[in-house]
Order: sequence, then structure tokens, then C-alpha cells
Amino acid sequence: MPIFSATATANPNIAFIKYWGNSNTALRLPANGSISMNLAALETRTRVTFDSSIPKDMFDLNGKRQSGAALERVVAHINLIRGLRGISTPVHVLSENNFPTGAGIASSAAAFAALTLAAVGALGLELPESNLSRLARRGSGSACRSIPTGFTEWRRGDSDLDSFAISIAPPEHWNLVDCIAVVEEKEKKVGSTEGHSLAASSPYQATRVADTPRRLDICRNTIQKRDFQALAQIVELDSNMMHAVMMTSRPALFFWEPATLNIIKSVQSWRKTGIPAAYTVDAGANIHVLCPAENAEDVKRRLSSLPGVLDVLSSQAGGPARLV
Ligand code: PMV
Repeated sequence: MPIFSATATANPNIAFIKYWGNSNTALRLPANGSISMNLAALETRTRVTFDSSIPKDMFDLNGKRQSGAALERVVAHINLIRGLRGISTPVHVLSENNFPTGAGIASSAAAFAALTLAAVGALGLELPESNLSRLARRGSGSACRSIPTGFTEWRRGDSDLDSFAISIAPPEHWNLVDCIAVVEEKEKKVGSTEGHSLAASSPYQATRVADTPRRLDICRNTIQKRDFQALAQIVELDSNMMHAVMMTSRPALFFWEPATLNIIKSVQSWRKTGIPAAYTVDAGANIHVLCPAENAEDVKRRLSSLPGVLDVLSSQAGGPARLV
């Protein structure tokens, strides 16, 4: 086989309604549906080259050759895509993030969305968006939401065939900004893959999952109506519900640091004084504060002055994963 190569970019996303727990771990079928916004300012760019002259699979991330678990996870994903063409040609994956490495910003969504699109592109396969999203999901669940554009919803589905994300609004629909307060730069101790497997051990997970269709409906409506106050309520409730499950699973997972809780309380008090801002926290200590674009400078300044805040990144809504 000659050399086949393609490059793709993808943004990470921030979940407004969170995915936590799987109904099928091997297929990464989620316990519940989720909704998120792609983050335009943060980008992963990945080049995938299938080349029969290289001795073995290689993966470089931000200029560093990877081995062990990081390499294995990428190779497992590439194997899925090689399987579509029935080939075993060695691959070289070259990936770069435009955001600070080790800033504790979850990058697996952008990573597996870009990897999927580049690998599929390199093999000359033309797949519909739903199939790209299904494939990306197998690498990292939330990656399926980084395939379509703007604000996206991952329909839970009941099988590999019907569990994928679709766009529910383009990025220009709503000029929201995600201000990310970095309070921890270390790698998180418990990765989300391990976290998902603990979700069902919390007595609250079943209640959270059963209530998800209601939260999804509210969230989808608030996005359609661009109703920030209503979005703030549902996004904060959903984040708190996921962390309640995390804190009550066995073993208990506490992702918040003191700086995280201090920002949560600050955002609540800012909103009481009329500043539109809403917090949401993923499986880490860093905290995302959403606000309308006109309030972003003020919110970023306020976040920067709080104790323990090492950096504040910000992003508007982003487009789909794309071939370059
Ligand atoms: O896609 P994963 O396995 O990294 O899980 C993502 C989990 C959360 O970020 C906590 C929630 C979400 O929906 O993005």
C-alpha cells in the first residue's frame, strides 16, 4: 500500500448536560444523553499517515513520542478504522494542541474527533456525520459531540448504531463564552474512563439518569430561546447532580479543590448582583464559567483576581471537526 495521509482539526466541548456512566463500557454507550458546546478557541490538529514502510505504529503528541497507555488507546482506535478497510498498514499519528499542555483542559474529545476524521479521510472513506460521530464515541464518549457543529446533543441510543451526536444549533446561534479558570495544572488522578465505571455504585446515579430527559428538554429549550437565566439554572443543577454522584460513588471521587468551591460561590453571588454567569465543572478541579459575550471581559477579570486561579482561557462556540 502506498502512503495515505490526511489532517483534521477538532475542538473540545463543554457539556451543559453531562455524560457520566456507561450502559455498555466496551462500546461507550452512555447511561444518559448529553448536550454541549464546541470551544472554537481550543483546537487539536492531527495528521494520520498510513505508511507500509514504517516499522510500527507511532504516536507523537505535542512533539513527544508516546508509549504505553496513550499509544495503546490511539492504536485501539486506529484498529477500528483499519478494520473498515481490512488493512493492517502501520500508522504514524502526529497530534498538536493549541492550548497549554497539562493545563488540565480535557482534550480527549478533540483528540478522538480529530483522529477519527483524519484516519477516515486518509483511507478515502466517505462516511456520513452520524457514522463519524459513532466512531469518535468509541475513542472517548464526549468526542462524538465534537464532530457536529456548534451546540450538539448526543442522543443516548440503545446500540452502537443509534448512539451519536447531532447539531442542535450552529455556533453563531448564540454568542456565549466559556471562561475556563485553571486552578490545577496536574493530570487528574482518576481519568473519566475509570470514573464512568464507578458511576453505578452511587445510589444517586439511577435518579440522575432517570431525570436526564427532563434536563435535556429544558437545556435544549433554553438554547433555542437564548434564555441565559434558565440555562444557568439547568447547567449548574446538572453539574451539581453529576458531582453528587461522583462524591457518593465507591470509592468516592472528589474533583473540586478549595479554589473550585470558592469560584462556585463567587459565581452565585455575582449572579445575585445581576451579572449573567453560570458555572459547570467536569471530572477535574478546573471550572468553566459561561456568560454572554458582552460580559466575558468582566467575568474573566473577576475570575483572574480570585485565589488559586492560575490562568483564565476563554472561547466562543466552535464549528465541526474538519479535514484541512
Ligand atoms: O468522554 P469522557 O470519557 O472523557 O467523559 C467526559 C465526562 C465529562 O467531561 C465529566 C462530562 C461530559 O459530558 O463531557
